[in-house]
This record gives sequence, structure tokens and C-alpha cells, in this order.
Amino acid sequence: MTYTYETYKAAADFLLEKFGDCPEIGIILGSGLGHFASQVEDPVTVPYGEIPNFLRSTAQGHAGEMIFGTVAGKKVVCMSGRFHYYEGYTFEQLSIPVRVLKLLGIRTLLLTNAAGAVNTAYRPGDIMVVSDHIKLTLGSPMRGANVEEFGPRFFDMGSTYTPELRRLALALGEKSPLTFHQGVYWFASGPQYETPAEIRAIRALGGDAVGMSTVTEALTAAHCGLPLLALSVMTNMAAGVLPQPLTSEEVIETARAIEGPFTDYVRELIANL
Ligand code: HPA
Repeated sequence: MTYTYETYKAAADFLLEKFGDCPEIGIILGSGLGHFASQVEDPVTVPYGEIPNFLRSTAQGHAGEMIFGTVAGKKVVCMSGRFHYYEGYTFEQLSIPVRVLKLLGIRTLLLTNAAGAVNTAYRPGDIMVVSDHIKLTLGSPMRGANVEEFGPRFFDMGSTYTPELRRLALALGEKSPLTFHQGVYWFASGPQYETPAEIRAIRALGGDAVGMSTVTEALTAAHCGLPLLALSVMTNMAAGVLPQPLTSEEVIETARAIEGPFTDYVRELIANL
């Protein structure tokens, strides 16, 4: 299927009619971090399955619904459940969520994700404000015919993770009981976790955390000029750091363990956006 402006617009128009209003902030929640959705007041919930031209969530720990409402006095739309390359979607399909959010009228995009800590100074439960990313795998959500309504064929990635938003995130992090860092997110296509040798290579090349999401969304946001903040929850030390196998249970357990303070933090962040 070829995606045109109308493809995305049909999904956005459907949602705007359901919501009856435009959100200011779009939030995409990562694995095990869906709890935040319970913070949305006066929620209008639309399952992904009802949205024309949208995708279906298959990943573990992802609910699969779009929730519109208010958090800390701000109108938000929250995607509880995101889409990943490892689920079998093409990179082109992975442009859909952020382009639809853009057409809903959001002015800021907030991404959260679960990631493995490559930087050995980080600990499980710490938060990394993403300063930049590295994606050495082939493919891009912007590959194929350019949709000019969103942005130009070739586009800059120099300030994809908006500097002012990162400064705000780190400043508010000082008031949180959680430990904050700022670092580089490495995109792994998954679904396998990395090998210990891959993690040593990622570390040598400048990656601080590794995960299987966020980068396709960040590329789509950069293309359409959407201010972006991405927060990675270190759910585990990356492969080979500790003498134990990685499991998705550990990822979900760590995410759950910091649910309370992380939710409080994101709420405070939204109040200040
Ligand atoms: N690697 C890749 N993705 C992840 C990890 C990891 O260690 N932890 C959570 N998501």
C-alpha cells in the first residue's frame, strides 16, 4: 500500500470527530509503561482496530488504544500501545502513528520506552533523557515517495530531540526520586535481544542504551518538524553486563517497579510543557 496525505488524514479526521477537540501533547507509552494512561481525566478511548488506515498492536504489555483527555490541565492524546519493526510492520507503516498525531494538531510529542542500559554507570530503574540516536540498520519510515505536506525529501536530524525539552526534563528530574541521565539511544531491530559482543560494539560506538522502538517515531517527528522529547527507562542492564539471561519479564517487572514515581514525573513534565 502507498501512503498518501489522505491515508493519514482519514485516520486523524475520524479521531477528531470522536475526541471533539484537538490535543496539545501526544504521548506514546513504552513496554510496561502503560500505567500512565490511568492519569488521563475525562478520557475518550478509541481502540486502534476502529481507526481507519491505522495499525494493530501485537506487542506484549501494549494495550492498543488511543486515549484523549486532560492531564495536569493540558489536553493530551495518549497512545497506549506502540508499533515496532519486529512485529512485522514495514518502516513505511511505522510513519502512521506520528503523522496521525501531527494531524490531530499536537505541538509536542513525548515518547517513553523500555531500554537496556549499555552505559555501565546506569542502573535498572534509572531514566535516560534521549539526546540523540544511532540507527545503523537499513530502512526509514520516510523511504519511498515523499509526502510533501509533512516535510521535504531530505531533512535535518541535528536537533531531533528538542534541546529545550531535554533541559526541562533534566531540571524536573532533579525533583524526582528517580535517577536521571542524558544519553544516546541505539536502535536495535529485534525481536532478539543483543549479543554481549554487539553490546560491547554499541558501547564503543557511543550508545548508552539500546531498545527496539522510538527511532522510527523520532524520524517521522523530525520530518514534520514536531518538537520531541524521548525518555528511556532502563529496565535491565544490556546483554553481557550481568551473568544472567535477559527476559521480557525482567523488562516489565522493572517498568512496573518505578511506575509510581515515573507517572508522577511525567505528570509534572506535562504540567510544564
Ligand atoms: N535490548 C533491546 N531492547 C530492550 C532491552 C534490551 O536490553 N530492554 C528493553 N528493551
